[in-house]
Amino acid sequence: MAEILPQDLALEPARRLLAAGKPVAIPTETVYGLAADATNGEAVAGIFEAKGRPRFNPLIAHVSDRAMAERIAVLSPLAGRLADAFWPGPLTMVLPHRPESGIHPLVTAGLDTIALRLPRGFGRELIARLGRPLAAPSANISGRVSATTAAAVDAGLGDRIELIVDGGPTTVGLESTIIKIDGDAVTLLRPGGITAEEIEKVAGRSLSRGAKGVEAPGMLASHYAPNARIRLGAEDVRSGEALLAFGPDRAQGANLAVEVRNLSPSGDLREAATNLFAHLTELDRTNPPVIAVEPVPREGLGEAINDRLARAAAPRDTHGKRA
Ligand code: TXA
Ligand code: MG
Repeated sequence: MAEILPQDLALEPARRLLAAGKPVAIPTETVYGLAADATNGEAVAGIFEAKGRPRFNPLIAHVSDRAMAERIAVLSPLAGRLADAFWPGPLTMVLPHRPESGIHPLVTAGLDTIALRLPRGFGRELIARLGRPLAAPSANISGRVSATTAAAVDAGLGDRIELIVDGGPTTVGLESTIIKIDGDAVTLLRPGGITAEEIEKVAGRSLSRGAKGVEAPGMLASHYAPNARIRLGAEDVRSGEALLAFGPDRAQGANLAVEVRNLSPSGDLREAATNLFAHLTELDRTNPPVIAVEPVPREGLGEAINDRLARAAAPRDTHGKRA
């Protein structure tokens, strides 16, 4: 069973386990991550093993400062501007990888690019203390809902790892936005905690979205899979269904729902992002055959929320647990 330590007591114990090549679950501002020394192949393999994650799926390397980022990847002037604007924070940039970076090839899954992110808070301090980048996917069993609390990490991975660092519920609630930078072109690979509009403003250009799912081999259509079937855009609730609500107005027949969670009673997308994974998990725990989801607007953070909901609703593949 994993030990759960509050973050103010966990810096040194976490550093010690990481230095010994063990994975540790840590809080970030987006979701909890299952972290390991990105330069140690066995340590990185331990992440895949604990998560049951398909190996072709590359990981994000987390850094503590710009200098560490520059040692690992080539940051163009445009990438530098985006880093200035959004790091530390929920932005991941896919950049040309420096072959001499020391990053283990399991992290990049053989690609000549690498996904880099500079997180806020405990993760950043831990990386600085360790003096090495950390590879960290979300701290959930592969294909399942991402964890936004230490308890959710424990429920999924508690019997597979030694330490979970508890930083309280994460503030953003959704994974980082992933963009790929190639010369002057910026492609949105995964919508997330920073909106496309915010990035476009700093980049001074619009994001292209064509390459989604091709560029990021890990972006399996079925992801974030609860046990219940997910019915999106629900304008009504059918008997026996659970309801994931949004905003002040209820779908027809909402009183028939066996259980209800509202992502944001006032209709605030930031609040909805924070609650998404926890509310999905709570509803799923009551074992309804179907979770009906009220429409969520697609603007701003709504793009990322709708992306995660669509993945939760997608037909399950072999990694999706229901197959
Ligand atoms: O907020 C987050 O990003 C969290 C926290 C823990 O930092 N991490 C996270 O990692 O969501 P993960 O592994 O669940 O998602 C990383 C995504 C994967 O879909 C992977 O395919 C993609 O990043 N990725 C990694 N390296 C890539 C690369 N070189 N090119 C394209 N996509 C890449
Ligand atoms: Mg994930």
